[in-house]
Amino acid sequence: MVESFQVIYGDASKAIQSLPAGKFRAIITSPPYYGHRRYGSDGQEIGREQTVEEYLDSLAKVFVDAKKLLTDDGSLWIVIGDTRRRKEKLRVPHRLADLLVRAGYKFREDIIWYKKNSVSSSSPDNFSQAYEYVLFFSKNSRSYANLDAVRVMGNEAAEGRNRRPLPEMVQFGPERPDKEAIERISRIIHSSTPLTPLSSLPSTSEIALAYGYDPEKFCPTCYRKFKRHATRRRIGGHRHYPIFAVCNPNGKNPSNVWEIATKAHFGNEHFAIFPEELVKKVIRFSTKPGDWVLDPFAGRGTTGIAALELGRKFIGIDLYPENVERAIANLSSKSNNWNGTK
Ligand SMILES: C[S@@+](CC[C@H](N)C(=O)[O-])C[C@H]1O[C@@H](n2cnc3c(N)ncnc32)[C@H](O)[C@@H]1O
Repeated sequence: MVESFQVIYGDASKAIQSLPAGKFRAIITSPPYYGHRRYGSDGQEIGREQTVEEYLDSLAKVFVDAKKLLTDDGSLWIVIGDTRRRKEKLRVPHRLADLLVRAGYKFREDIIWYKKNSVSSSSPDNFSQAYEYVLFFSKNSRSYANLDAVRVMGNEAAEGRNRRPLPEMVQFGPERPDKEAIERISRIIHSSTPLTPLSSLPSTSEIALAYGYDPEKFCPTCYRKFKRHATRRRIGGHRHYPIFAVCNPNGKNPSNVWEIATKAHFGNEHFAIFPEELVKKVIRFSTKPGDWVLDPFAGRGTTGIAALELGRKFIGIDLYPENVERAIANLSSKSNNWNGTK
């Protein structure tokens, strides 16, 4: 039987040389930040370099060498924050991105991970640091992506305007669209010019009704009223434009701001781990069940835990034996439940 996980003890830049090319659909990791903390006393530890340039070079080397381990449609995800020195931000995430782009990676997204439970700063002149980046790169221009696995309903911001409507006010599909009314409305809108007074165009409620939607009812995906889905103005100079557009009933594309509270799994509270919810979102989007995921800075194995829970397979690397042991213990409890099909 093929083992569903492995955690290698050693320096990431050396250990990746022994792994097979093209094995991993995704590399997902949170490397040590520059000058933030010390995990042990090994001279190979990343994050303890004298200068930020040396740090960026050692980190970039790991990811550049690891590029060949990715499948052709594979992607690299780095959860990373910045460091301040004498009041100035060092721009670590974007300088790292520059180095990786120079090495051929495609820089796809710099997602903001907003930590809604972040601790506020007591500095007299700095804002509290409430986010980190999730840098998303792909090996080639296109990468495997499953948006359906991460679609969102409603407004992602908790305090947003579009609150979840009452169930009886939600309409899931069209009821008796009126073909003639749709044709009449289309004719009026298409023959309008920028000078046509708005009052002579059909109202957005009339448009929604023609398409079979109660204008005062709410969309189950974006929680807006259906009259808000109708357009009656010419948009720019385009001849073709939607006059009524419904949302994808499976949910919206998630935004590139992810609001996720920091949360450690039991027994690992004082270690710099990232939340399983965040890693799971990345894994669901970037891999298929049965795929291999790599974390070259595995720590206590959060990436692996999430990967096994979602039916993926995992290889982790860490410089310190105590982290490797702990990650193996964390992963073994998950591996027993793994059935390889989820
Ligand atoms: C931010 S922590 C990772 C935490 C991890 N995401 C988790 O959930 O537990 C960074 C890890 O990188 C490891 N590390 C530092 N330098 C390394 C190197 N050269 N090779 C491999 N691992 C290294 C540290 O021991 C630490 O466990």
